Amino acid sequence: MNKKYIGYLFEIAWILPSIAIPIAILVAVIITAFVAGVGVPGDGGQINPAAIAQTAPFDQPGVRELAPGRYEVAVVAQVFQFMPGEIRVPRGAEVTFVVTSRDVIHGFKINKTPVNVMVIPGQISRVTTTFDEPGEYLLVCHEYCGTGHHVMAGKVIVE
Ligand code: CUA
Repeated sequence: MNKKYIGYLFEIAWILPSIAIPIAILVAVIITAFVAGVGVPGDGGQINPAAIAQTAPFDQPGVRELAPGRYEVAVVAQVFQFMPGEIRVPRGAEVTFVVTSRDVIHGFKINKTPVNVMVIPGQISRVTTTFDEPGEYLLVCHEYCGTGHHVMAGKVIVE
């Protein structure tokens, strides 16, 4: 094998991954966006964190039925809990979570679902999903928010 030929092999060994890796990333983005249903949360609006107790829907955190099969859940995140900590929704319903924070940045992630948003003081996060499988889903704060971050959790019960 002459030196020139070995040089070509090295070129190909680097060129192939440099093409394959961006393609793999693109495929991963397309799959998460269109197959797994993961998307960027929309602008849910702004809120004065000091006025949460007086501002709808956060003045009454909890589940509200908007229409048959459609629910809205208002959730307030604060160190180190979600209010309400237990959310009950029927199976198959379209559920929109409207979440804000009273104090610092928190996370709002429901295991086994595409629901995964940041919760920022002054901002409202809005995310919609449908629970097809009944059961208990763990709701966790996945943004480090202080010494009690690891205990900040709740649950969604689909019945
Ligand atoms: Cu709230 Cu971590």
